Amino acid sequence: MHLHPLWSKKSLPVNYNDEMTNDKMTNDESSGNLLIIKTLQGLETVLAAELETLGATDTQPLKRAVSCRGDRRLMYRANYELRTALRVLVPFHSFRATNEKSYYRAVREIDWSRYLDAKDTLAVEATVSGDYFRHSQYAALLTKDAIVDQFRDRLGRRPDVNLETPTLRIHVRIFGSQCDLLLDSSGDSLHKRGYRRDTVEAPLNEVLAAGMILLTGWKGDSTFVDPMCGSGTIPIEAAMLAMDIPAQYKRESMLGFFRWKDFDKKLWQDVKSAADARIHPPAFPILASDMDSRARNATTINLMSAGLEHVVQAEKIPFEKLMPPAETGILIANPPYDERLQIEDVADFYKSIGDRLKQNWAGWQAWLISSNMEAWKSFGLRPSRKITLVNGSLDCYFQKFELYAGKKYAQVEGE
Ligand SMILES: C[S@@+](CC[C@H](N)C(=O)[O-])C[C@H]1O[C@@H](n2cnc3c(N)ncnc32)[C@H](O)[C@@H]1O
Repeated sequence: MHLHPLWSKKSLPVNYNDEMTNDKMTNDESSGNLLIIKTLQGLETVLAAELETLGATDTQPLKRAVSCRGDRRLMYRANYELRTALRVLVPFHSFRATNEKSYYRAVREIDWSRYLDAKDTLAVEATVSGDYFRHSQYAALLTKDAIVDQFRDRLGRRPDVNLETPTLRIHVRIFGSQCDLLLDSSGDSLHKRGYRRDTVEAPLNEVLAAGMILLTGWKGDSTFVDPMCGSGTIPIEAAMLAMDIPAQYKRESMLGFFRWKDFDKKLWQDVKSAADARIHPPAFPILASDMDSRARNATTINLMSAGLEHVVQAEKIPFEKLMPPAETGILIANPPYDERLQIEDVADFYKSIGDRLKQNWAGWQAWLISSNMEAWKSFGLRPSRKITLVNGSLDCYFQKFELYAGKKYAQVEGE
């Protein structure tokens, strides 16, 4: 049987270096190919758990990534189903180089005809650190030159560069003298689910929203409310999770591996239909509300494009007037931080959210994310969990509040 070079064990790199984490890599090739899945800071453990559910072995959280082993089916599934992945990378060649000449030579020695034809296109991105290589853009250029020079020499023709939709997207990681080449099997970042048609200010990254929900442990097993839904990212991701809708179910752009020489269409169709067959109705209501009618409208538009307009109820109502739709459930909110979305008296606003939760939402579990550390101090409730996440460039706390009825409520800060 013809085995594509990517999936033959011989072609596996001996290791992969991430600035902080190279000591964590293993060289065990017994259980499949090495994959590196990129994510956002703070979501490494939920991504590892997602991967294990898909059958990945040897999962190891890295910094903003998880490494694991798995076969081609797993790689296809990872791209289609993972909620907290940004990209699925396949390391395929490693070598050592201490200067540009030896780097160029090593890249040119790889038989690129195994991955590309002269009529194909490529894109290269690089990150470099350490003493030998200083400029990532230059490393990317050198890689591209070595590849196209090989084609020109052999065939007189060469692949073109296409930064948007290349046949092959190559990531170069150089750490000291260790050079790793990885293929990006995802193409466009996996946070681009395809359902977002309209936004109001400060929408959450879809991967962050999904990761927050997974971090709470909610699996669709109670009523769900986002009372400050903005463009609806959190309730849409919640509905997809509750209904087992694959993360890329509505994706419009091709996954990167569709363009690869070894694309196994039958396997892909198999993976997709098996995942799609698991979609089921939600067991509990999912509600989205916001005080702003533009936000409610954006949420409705996005729900429609996700095919979830009959699943998630979207309302225009201020949190102050919202009453819990059930005796118990989970509330997840991303209130304004007074950064991108400004508010007049942020301390007062956060205090009023805390007060409302205390007064009206007993029996519920509330999780809120905010970067405003000062405002958190006015919240008036003590968190039972505090998780550090990064939203864009903002360091945030994602905090859990158990809202007890009656006296148990002595959980108030300062009491
Ligand atoms: C940071 S945005 C939420 C973004 C959302 N998570 C998304 O992904 O698009 C905060 C939202 O809180 C809403 N908001 C602010 N104060 C509110 C209140 N008192 N009641 C309800 N919604 C409120 C704003 O209208 C805004 O849409």
